[in-house]
Amino acid sequence: GLTQTAKSLPARYFYDDRGSELFEQICELPEYYLTRTEMSILLQYAGEIAQNTSACELVELGSGSSTKTRILLDAYEHLNYPLRYLPIDVSAGILESSAKQLLAAYPSLQVHALASTYELALERLTPTELPSRMICFIGSTLGNLSPQECDVFFSQIQTALNVGEYLLLGIDLQKPKHLLEAAYNDSQGITAAFNLNVLDHLNRRFGGNFDTTQFAHWAFYNESQHQIEMHLRSLRSQTVQLRALDLTVEFETGETILTEISRKFDLNTMRQELSDRGLAPLQIWTDHSQWFGVLLCQLKSAD
Ligand code: AVI
Repeated sequence: GLTQTAKSLPARYFYDDRGSELFEQICELPEYYLTRTEMSILLQYAGEIAQNTSACELVELGSGSSTKTRILLDAYEHLNYPLRYLPIDVSAGILESSAKQLLAAYPSLQVHALASTYELALERLTPTELPSRMICFIGSTLGNLSPQECDVFFSQIQTALNVGEYLLLGIDLQKPKHLLEAAYNDSQGITAAFNLNVLDHLNRRFGGNFDTTQFAHWAFYNESQHQIEMHLRSLRSQTVQLRALDLTVEFETGETILTEISRKFDLNTMRQELSDRGLAPLQIWTDHSQWFGVLLCQLKSAD
């Protein structure tokens, strides 16, 4: 991405251990409505989700701190279903600490954690020991994938699931620009620190010499594409080296690196898209303002 004319970085580079910590702080911010809105939906409907799926193994892609997972585990525990959880995250630190906390909180829980990108992990899922499986992709991480990446992701889900198994999807919905822009430009500057941390991560990982004081956070809502775009803007013309990659990157003043897109969805379009892919939503829940959607989908047979 850094060698292209329009520079970009894969969003997964946000999530070293420091980036994962910063993301946890973002989730608590007053402006970042996503986490608490999704959580309120899960708190209200987790029981219905568990009743719909019956006993099943929970696979969570991008599990992070697994805070929202506890709501689901509580619901399955309440119905006396066995608890088996496969968290998958690129950040091994947060994966290990959250898995240990869960094991302490749920004595009967079995955890099998995978430090991996979700693409690789989906290819390597071993058959479940429980009657069924639900892949959880909550928190609107789907929004960080381009439409093409979404296509690939849904095919991987189709391959990873058996007919009759489940996908639980949490997506952020379209809403007025000022609400969205506030969520990605918080007043405490945590999102800016999260964005800039990607450069520290590259420095550590690839022997780089990015000077984070010479880049600035920039996030805005692209209304025609229905997506937040998050960039790092170079504050001067500068040359950066990444020794381990034998790479030299030149920046002009004002030039940007696209670090993330965060797409905002229309519920009816998503319902149709999922149905077209044999992942028809069984149930869809939203909050009273319709800011966020949680969809329980089931893989249908091809015919
Ligand atoms: C993880 N993902 C859904 C977050 C989002 O809102 O797109 C990442 C994030 N970027 C800036 N703030 C939060």
